[in-house]
Amino acid sequence: MSDMALSRQEQKKRFGTLVKALFTYAKPYKFRFAQAAASMMLLAVIRGAVVYILGPVIQGVFVDKKLEILTLVVIGLPVIFALRMAAEYTNAYLMSWIGQKVVQQIRDDLFNHIHRLSIEFYWRKRSSDVMSRVINDLNNVQSAVQFIPLYAIRDVLTVTSLLGVLFYINWRFALVSLMILPVAGIVLGILGKKMRRASEESNILVGEISHKFQESLQGITVVKAFNYEDEAIRRFRATNDSYFSKTMRYLRATAMAGPLMEFLGGMILIAVIYLGGKAISAGAMTTANFFSFVAGFFTAYMPLKNLANLNAKLQLGLASWERIHQILEERPAVIVTSKPGNLAGLDGKIEFRNVNYKYPSRETQVLKDLSFVINPGEVAALVGPSGSGKTTIIHLLLRFFDPLTGSIAVDGHDLRDLGTTDLRSHLGLVTQDTILFDDTVFRNITIGKPDASREEVAAAAKAADAHAFIDAMPQGYETVLGERGIKLSGGQRQRLAIARAIIKKPEILLLDEATSNLDTASEQAVQSSIEKILGGRTVVMVAHRLSTVRNADRIFVLKKGELAETGSHQELLAKGGIYRGLYEAQT
Ligand SMILES: Nc1ncnc2c1ncn2[C@@H]1O[C@H](COP(=O)(O)OP(=O)(O)OP(=O)(O)O)[C@@H](O)[C@H]1O
Ligand SMILES: [Mg+2]
Repeated sequence: MSDMALSRQEQKKRFGTLVKALFTYAKPYKFRFAQAAASMMLLAVIRGAVVYILGPVIQGVFVDKKLEILTLVVIGLPVIFALRMAAEYTNAYLMSWIGQKVVQQIRDDLFNHIHRLSIEFYWRKRSSDVMSRVINDLNNVQSAVQFIPLYAIRDVLTVTSLLGVLFYINWRFALVSLMILPVAGIVLGILGKKMRRASEESNILVGEISHKFQESLQGITVVKAFNYEDEAIRRFRATNDSYFSKTMRYLRATAMAGPLMEFLGGMILIAVIYLGGKAISAGAMTTANFFSFVAGFFTAYMPLKNLANLNAKLQLGLASWERIHQILEERPAVIVTSKPGNLAGLDGKIEFRNVNYKYPSRETQVLKDLSFVINPGEVAALVGPSGSGKTTIIHLLLRFFDPLTGSIAVDGHDLRDLGTTDLRSHLGLVTQDTILFDDTVFRNITIGKPDASREEVAAAAKAADAHAFIDAMPQGYETVLGERGIKLSGGQRQRLAIARAIIKKPEILLLDEATSNLDTASEQAVQSSIEKILGGRTVVMVAHRLSTVRNADRIFVLKKGELAETGSHQELLAKGGIYRGLYEAQT
């Protein structure tokens, strides 16, 4: 056995899992599917029947000149055609309904799923890549779910029923027409392989294109200020060009399929006419039967052409479904124990014990054997040079990821024994870069507490020194903040973020450069009102500006992921170490 055989086996297995996973989505709609399949069967029978009666009708009306048959045609055929219309509508409608329903469920699951994944997933994946899967790939899956059963059942049934009629009319001719099938199979098989490869490559490029769009849209100020437009456009064009050629490779194969089938059909038709002409003149076949046969052949032609497209849809759909399935298969890196402990309330004690951490994408260790304790109610400050690991500590506390070795505990509970939702419900966070959602001011604040009242929101905004500028806005708290909150200044955004954290009244408040964009007066006002509202709770604050942290109970000075000094502002100044150096440089 060679490697190739093995990989083919693996491929088959992979294919099996993929199809099975997709089937799980379609399963709830099996009743509707049965209805659709029944109407497809009806349609196939009607199409066969129409061809079947064509011969006798031609014979009766035009050759034998029987008028009663003409009456039958005028009365009977409309009924059959109406039935055919109803069957066609029913199966097309039901299949698009199922396709949409399946995709709606997958979309829902995707949205749910990405919310359950750990931060680590977002480090690895670009948002535009995820987006292109959700939009573009899902579209391909929808079209596959909708059309493949139509082509595979309706058209296979139609072709089968027509073949039956053709065999009945003249089995020798029917055998000749059957020759189309193996030839078509081989041709379409070869094209299918090409399509699959090309569609995989073009799917990836769709992600690349939406990434470039997103980057330029979000970074437009930098693009303009640095005259980066031409370079950005040039780079985009390269991607766009290669998307064009990859997609054309897919489309070339797709475009080949139809005409090739048509050509093969034409060849067979010539053979049928040749044989038919000879058979009629030899008296072995009636003209009526011959026309009926040719009509059957033409009726089979559209469904056969669809069967050629079946492969294209299947290849595209499978390649796309695989990309979606990859996301659905992602598992959170942060594991929640099966029976997480319950935190009724917290005193707010934080304990780091020999914590080591390294980001998966990096070699260097970010935190080295870090141990410290923050007592309940203490205001602790983390200071240290950029890149020394302060934000990493905050994120570890939120359990965005776990330490490699060592442990972190709150009130003596190891974070790994707690549910992340439970843990985070006791923590408040103001991040280094303020994230505002495309929603009203009010709702941007109530993210911290969805059931908060107007009064609570106003109180939190006042404490964050935000009430005045919110009130001055045209719609006050109902003002909608634009995409990424671009209508606000850096300091205003920060104050909203602080209000959002305060309203939650968390037992532990984590402030990562939360007041870096505020002027000193506003910073002091915010600090004292935080103290008033959250007095007695644990606060961990990160700041570069040392005036921000001088009132902290204890200051932890970090250097390259290690704790260099600890103490109050006065103690650290007296010590004459790193902190004093930093302080003197700032004043
Ligand atoms: N998601 C990440 N993946 C890989 N490395 C990271 C990631 N986030 C941070 N790092 C690296 O880890 C180190 C510590 O980063 P961290 O953000 O904790 O520093 P910091 O002390 O908060 O710095 P600053 O004061 O500039 O905010 C840095 O060297 C940084 O480059
Ligand atoms: Mg930081």
